Amino acid sequence: MDKVYIFDTTLRDGEQAPGFSMTADEKLQMAHQLAKLGVDIIEAGFAAASKGDFDSVRLIASEIDGPVICSLARALEKDIELAGEALKPAKRKRIHTFIATSEIHMKYKLRMSPEEVLERAQKAVRFARNFTDDVEFSCEDATRSQRDFLYKVIETAIKAGATVINIPDTVGYALPEEFAQLIEDIKNNVPNIDKAIISVHCHDDLGMAVANSLMAVKHGARQVECTINGIGERAGNAALEEIVMAIKVRKDFFGDLYTEINTKELYKTSRLLCRITGSFVQPNKAVVGDNAFAHESGIHQHGVLANPLTYEIMSPEDVGFPSTRIVLGKHSGRHALKRRLSDLGFQLSDQEIEKVFEKFKALADKKKEVYDEDLEALIYEEFMKIDEEEPIKIKHYQVQTGENILPTATVVLTFNGEERTATSTGNGPVDAVIKAVQKALGIEPKLLDFSIKALTPNTDAQAEARLVVELDDVKASGRGVDTDIIKASINGFVDALNRAIMRKNYIISKEKIREEGTV
Ligand code: KIV
Ligand code: ZN
Repeated sequence: MDKVYIFDTTLRDGEQAPGFSMTADEKLQMAHQLAKLGVDIIEAGFAAASKGDFDSVRLIASEIDGPVICSLARALEKDIELAGEALKPAKRKRIHTFIATSEIHMKYKLRMSPEEVLERAQKAVRFARNFTDDVEFSCEDATRSQRDFLYKVIETAIKAGATVINIPDTVGYALPEEFAQLIEDIKNNVPNIDKAIISVHCHDDLGMAVANSLMAVKHGARQVECTINGIGERAGNAALEEIVMAIKVRKDFFGDLYTEINTKELYKTSRLLCRITGSFVQPNKAVVGDNAFAHESGIHQHGVLANPLTYEIMSPEDVGFPSTRIVLGKHSGRHALKRRLSDLGFQLSDQEIEKVFEKFKALADKKKEVYDEDLEALIYEEFMKIDEEEPIKIKHYQVQTGENILPTATVVLTFNGEERTATSTGNGPVDAVIKAVQKALGIEPKLLDFSIKALTPNTDAQAEARLVVELDDVKASGRGVDTDIIKASINGFVDALNRAIMRKNYIISKEKIREEGTV
């Protein structure tokens, strides 16, 4: 029992956080990469939350080989049935059912007595065993639950057939010493605990998620629930890359404990998630931040050159951090492109390489040097765009701007197949074009965030525009990349609007689930 199982919940708890929703195709891309990374379990979603979630779990269950595929389910027959149905194609499947056990959750959220909660937990686990032998049970808000009741629920769930017992610090309230003690107490007070694996699931509200998870592991937990880049509800979940590297680097502390994560895939996985969600990690983020291995001060540089161990406790290669910056250009062939894409973590078929190669050539004609960031953007444009029929499509736009000219834009677009045209002025060319799109659509979304940056050096760089819009209370982010900043902006704006429109129904059903009182 020295292996620590890595349960990745990026596609469920992570995706639940505002601004991190992903389409089914995007989730599938992530799931492929998570399998390559070597996670033991992928929590692919919450099948009963919405049709979108059900379809994503089903798609991942059909396509991904290797890790156990898991769906979350409330302790309700209809949820468990949907989870079982969505997981049907998976070779190895797990149902993760949960109910809150703290007084505050039982009284105000569930409006149930402890006895009712206990009965629901038992029934849910038993029912889930009809679909798979691998059943995980979580006592939501475990860290604020009354201890004797918590022990009783755990014992009952194991008797009913739970093979994994998860102890969530749902609100990120625990401190490392306390959390370690909780795991010890569970081991000492739940008579049948040896029949299940103890798992932990920590939120980061006080910045303790990783520390709490590691202390739990030190004290007997053998599964950690975590997410790439630590994304998740509110302040997020424990960051997978930090947990895994801490166990690897601090062997002196963790002894024989190990994970089966291929750490060389950590950086690629982190980057892929950033690309898909449009949310980048801060430069000083542990393990995967841009500055994680940058040595700025002269003293540090001198030390690292003499012996990297002076200031590096792990090497950039250990986590797959790119050590060289390879630049391709218009004379680079298919072979070089394929090789670079593979180094960046993209395994594409010959047919897909052919498509990317055409776009690469067109880009290399526009700008001399094609960097990794350009290639990532190209792949995103080609394969990770929203897959459903996009409601808004730009057909044509034109902008006039200059010294002493009022910036004016005209846009021709289609909205659900109907052609519309509008002209608008603005305080700059980007403002004018965005206003023209709004006028043509007859909508006024709130623009919550807008940034534009050059992906690489030089004035011929591709610009990446990132926007977050709010339309009828639905937030969505979008991105556009082009060597022309106006085109990047208009594409990013329309991408965000399309995502907001398409997610509207999806989010409404999730909100309903939240109101009913669940996660
Ligand atoms: O934070 C939490 O308690 C959860 C459970 C559903 C495991 O996400
Ligand atoms: Zn959670």
